[in-house]
Amino acid sequence: MVSRVIPVDPFDLVIFGGTGDLAQRKILPALFRRFCAGQWADGVQIIGAARTKHDGATFRQVVAESLKTHASVQCKDAAALAAFLHCVDYVALDDGSDEGWSTLAAKLQPDRVRAFYFSVGPRLFGSLAERIQSHDLATEQTRIVVEKPFGHDLDSAKVLNATLAAHFREKQIYRIDHYLGKETVQNLMAVRFGNMLFEPLWNSQYVDHIQITVAESVGIDGREEYYERAGAMRDMMQNHLMQLLCLIAMEPPAKFDPDAVRDEKLKVIRALDPVEPHHIVRGQFEGGGPSYRQIVGNPRSTTESYVALRAHVSNWRWAGTPFYLRTGKRLVARSSVINVMFKDAPHSIFGEQAGRHANVLSIRLQPNEGITLKVTIKEPGQGGMRLVDVPLDMSFAEALGPENQEPPDAYERLVMDVIRGNQTLFMRGDEVEAAWAWTDPIIAGWQSRGDVPKPYESGSTGPGDAELLMKRDGRRWQGINP
Ligand code: BG6
Repeated sequence: MVSRVIPVDPFDLVIFGGTGDLAQRKILPALFRRFCAGQWADGVQIIGAARTKHDGATFRQVVAESLKTHASVQCKDAAALAAFLHCVDYVALDDGSDEGWSTLAAKLQPDRVRAFYFSVGPRLFGSLAERIQSHDLATEQTRIVVEKPFGHDLDSAKVLNATLAAHFREKQIYRIDHYLGKETVQNLMAVRFGNMLFEPLWNSQYVDHIQITVAESVGIDGREEYYERAGAMRDMMQNHLMQLLCLIAMEPPAKFDPDAVRDEKLKVIRALDPVEPHHIVRGQFEGGGPSYRQIVGNPRSTTESYVALRAHVSNWRWAGTPFYLRTGKRLVARSSVINVMFKDAPHSIFGEQAGRHANVLSIRLQPNEGITLKVTIKEPGQGGMRLVDVPLDMSFAEALGPENQEPPDAYERLVMDVIRGNQTLFMRGDEVEAAWAWTDPIIAGWQSRGDVPKPYESGSTGPGDAELLMKRDGRRWQGINP
C-alpha cells in the first residue's frame, strides 16, 4: 500500500519557542519528514522565533543538528536537508517588547496560510496573541497552535480560553493533544465506524467492560519541576486517556468533520459520572531503582506517577459498563492498549467442563500497532468438546506492507492539518473545559483527604491496589506486554 501525499500550497509557519525542546525534537523533524515526503514544493517559510540572538544562518545550524538526531533515518539525505533548510529562517523577538516584530512582519507573505505555533509556556499565550494583533500580523488565514498543558484546572483553562478568544476566533485556535495525531488513535474511528462487525455489539448489552492502558517504561527525568506540579492525572489522564475514552465511547458522528466529531466527544465527557474515591488508585514509584521522591528531590512528595480508575459513562449505550483506565511511569513496558472485554455467551451448550470464554478485542496503539480478537474454538483432538481461546492477530505493519512499517509521527499529521485548516483532531475549548470539570473534583478530593500515593516498584505493573480495584469487581487487568 503506497501512502498518498496531497501537497499543500505555500504557507508561513512561525514557531514561537523555535529554539526550545519541543520545536527541535518534534515540530521541526515532523516538518522535515513531510518535506521529504513531497508535501510541498517551493516557497514555504518556517520561521523560528525566540529570544535567543540567532540569525537565519546560526538557527539553520541548530536545526540541522537536531534533525540529524531526531529525524528518521530515510530523511538524513544531505541534499534533502539543504533544500529543507532553505525554507527555514529566524527572527529574534520578545513577547514583552516590540523589538523584532516588524522584522517578522516584513518576512510574512500576504494571501497565504499563516500559522503561529505557540511552542512556549501558557503564561506567554496572552502576550504573544496581543503582539500578533497589535503588529497587524493576523489575517483571515491566520491560525494559532497551542500545546498542552492547556491549563492546570478548570479555572485556569477558562482564563486561557478567554485570553485566546479575545484575539482569535475558535476556528483559528488549534489545541494540540498529540495522541489524536497518532495513526492508531485515528484508527480507532476507522475500526469502529468503517466496519459493520463491531458497532452492533459496541454497547453495554454485549460489552462487560473496557480497559484502557497507557503504560510507560520511562520516568520523568528532565521534567521534574513540571511533573511534580502535574502528576499522572493532569499529565496523562485529563487529556490523552480522556481522548481515547471519548473515541471508544462516542456515538457515530454524522460525518468526519471537526464539529460533528468534537460534539460527540464532548457528550461523552459530559456523561461521565464523578469518580468515587474508592474507584481510584494513585501510585508513586519507589524501589527497583531511584524513587520518584529522590528524582524530584522532595522526600515528602505526594504527586502520583500512576493512576488507575473506574469511570462510568452514564448514557443509554454504556449504562452499567465500567471503563477502567490506568497510566503510569516506570512500568514494566511501554504499551498502550485498549481491551474491549465482551460478555460471556449467555448459555454454554458444552456444559460446565467447557469453562467460560469471552471474546476480547485488543487494539494496540503502541508499539507493535495492531488488533487482536480472542475467539473460542474447539481444542483439537480427542477427549470430548474442550474449548480453548486463540488470538486472531493482526499487526498493521505486516498487513499493510513494508512502506508502513514505521507510522508517521503524530506531529506530522497535526501540523499539516493546521495548514490544511482541519480542526477534527484538535480539542475544542469546551471539550478541554469539560475534561477539567471532571478531573478537578478528583484532585480536590485527594487534597482534602491528604491522600498519599501507594508505592510501586519500578518495572512492575503498578501498585497492588490497582489489582484490587479490579478484583473487587470480579475482573482483572490484561497483562502489560511490550
Ligand atoms: C506527554 C506527557 O503529553 O505524553 C508525557 O507529558 C508522556 O509525560 C508523553 O511521556 C507520552 O507520549 P507518547 O507519544 O510517548 O506515548
